Order: sequence, then structure tokens, then C-alpha cells
Amino acid sequence: MEAIAQAQPNIALVKYWGKKRGDRNIPATPSLSITLNTLQTRTRVKFRQDYGTDRLSINGTTDPIQLHRVTGCLDALRQVTGINQYADIVSVNNFPTSAGIASSASGFAALVTAACAALDANLSGEEQSRLARRSSASAARSVFGGFVEMDIKAQDPAARPLLTETEWPLDIVVAVTSTQPKQIGSTAGMEQSAATCEYYDAWVSSTSGDFSTARRAVLNHDFELLADVSEASCLKMHAVMLATHPALIYWNGATVEIIHRVRALRGEGLPAFFTIDAGPQVKIISLPGYRDKIERAVKDIPGVIDVIYSGLGPGAHVVESLK
Ligand code: PMV
Repeated sequence: MEAIAQAQPNIALVKYWGKKRGDRNIPATPSLSITLNTLQTRTRVKFRQDYGTDRLSINGTTDPIQLHRVTGCLDALRQVTGINQYADIVSVNNFPTSAGIASSASGFAALVTAACAALDANLSGEEQSRLARRSSASAARSVFGGFVEMDIKAQDPAARPLLTETEWPLDIVVAVTSTQPKQIGSTAGMEQSAATCEYYDAWVSSTSGDFSTARRAVLNHDFELLADVSEASCLKMHAVMLATHPALIYWNGATVEIIHRVRALRGEGLPAFFTIDAGPQVKIISLPGYRDKIERAVKDIPGVIDVIYSGLGPGAHVVESLK
């Protein structure tokens, strides 16, 4: 009753920010993301009859808050499968948690995949995605590779693959501008925005248009259209964050300077655009072949600490199943 799975983080091009009322962690807005390849989470899950509780190690340390979330996720799986054993979970990221790349997305996608394999639970990709969503909505997208969509029309939504990583390869350069943990996590930030931002309803209602434009751009391999709608979605989400009381200002000076540099590059004809999540790092997406130029353009900006490369990668998958 043991398995190892690997999953990669994803970056939303059309962002989700806000949750529907209720307790099943359903996003209020649809989203569209790309799954990465060089950044990886590996998770081993071992169920045993004699464990009295779940145990968790992430990069060699224990964290009671994460353990609580993991137990919630496994409880749902225990309910589906009828298996009442607890698990020992060991999870390792090959990327710095300080890189500002959501490790919860790859973490929960790897957890669900490994736990399903260990329990021989015959769940489809969509069912695994639905299960991951309940713990971390962005994790629902990391179950799949390449371009992934997360519509929210269904009662209990799941992510779905849109285009594979080989059908339209893209490059990603992450400009790391801080190693400080963020002051307000995304769930708390989303609640504050919903409660206090005067633009919140307009944001929510405008996202379905961005979502269908981005879908069309991806299916047509239309980079310019994808660049326009992705930057607009990112800036609109940050406008909501800025208009939250108290304001959620996730950017620093280097973040803003990188935005200007990427816009200048695009003005010169280089196919690249930026996106930023609930933190100060900037993710620069381009057609293949421009990584060095992009790195040269941003690495001398004061405040840029590191640059990480990635391409598009596969969805969560089982690496080893031990019975
Ligand atoms: O699901 P969470 O808690 O990882 O929130 C993700 C929020 C953003 O990264 C800002 C946007 C997104 O769609 O991933």
C-alpha cells in the first residue's frame, strides 16, 4: 500500500482570485494555466493498518498546518475508497520554497496521485483533479500537463487538459525578487478582496470573457492574443488586490521594473509576456529560443536575486508503486 508520484507546479495565465461561498473550495472565477517541467515535487505515500494518525514530512520538516490540510485530503479519499488506514507521507521539492512558486499545487497533485496508486483507487484524472481542488484549487490544474483549463460551471468542478506540452512548447523564465514568505496567503487574501474590494464583482464577472479568449488563443497557438489576455488578467487581479482594504501589495520595486523591461522587449518584437501571482516574483513566458535574451534583460535589475528556467511539463504521474 505504497506509491511514489511526481507533480510539477503550474502558472495561471488567466487567474483565479476568489472562492464561491460554501465549503468545497470552488473558485469564483475560471482559470487557465501552464504546467512546468523543471520544478518538481516527489511524494511517497505509505498506508499502514498500525498507524494511528497521518504523518507528514515536507523537505525533512513537519508542519502542523500542512498536516491538517493533507489529512483533510486523505479523509476524502478514505471516504471514496472505504479504506480506513492512515498514511506516512514524505514529500520533497527540488525547487526552493522561497522561489514564490506555489508548491501547494504540485504538492497536493502529487499527494492525490500517490495516494490513489497506493490504495488502488481507480479514479479518473478528472476525479483526482476534483479531489486535489478541495485542498488547493490550483492543485487541480497540476494533475494535468501542458495547457490546462479549470472551468467552474459544474457543481463540483475539475480541471481538464486543453493542449499537451509538446503540441505548443513555451519557455518560462522566473525572475526571483524576494525570498521572504508572503505576508498574507492567497485564501485569506481572497476572502479580504471579496469582503472589501469595490471592484470584486466586476472582476468575477469579467473573467469568463478572458477565459474564453485565452482558450481560443491556446487552441489557435496565437501567442500575441495569449500575451494580451494573460497580462490583462494578471493586472486586473492585482488591481483587485490593490483595492482591497487593507491593500494587498504583493509587488516590490524590482517587480515593477521587470514589467517595464518585458513590455519594452515585446515592443521590440520579442515574443514574451509577464505574469505575477500572490508574490513579487515575475514569470516571463515566451516562445522557445529567447531565454538568454530575457535573462540578460532582467538579471541586472537591482533586486533580482535569481533566475529559474522551465519549459512546459507533464501532469502528475506515478513513479513507483510498491505493494
Ligand atoms: O489555489 P491557491 O491557494 O494556490 O491560489 C492561487 C492564486 C493565484 O496563484 C494568485 C492565481 C492562480 O490561479 O493560480
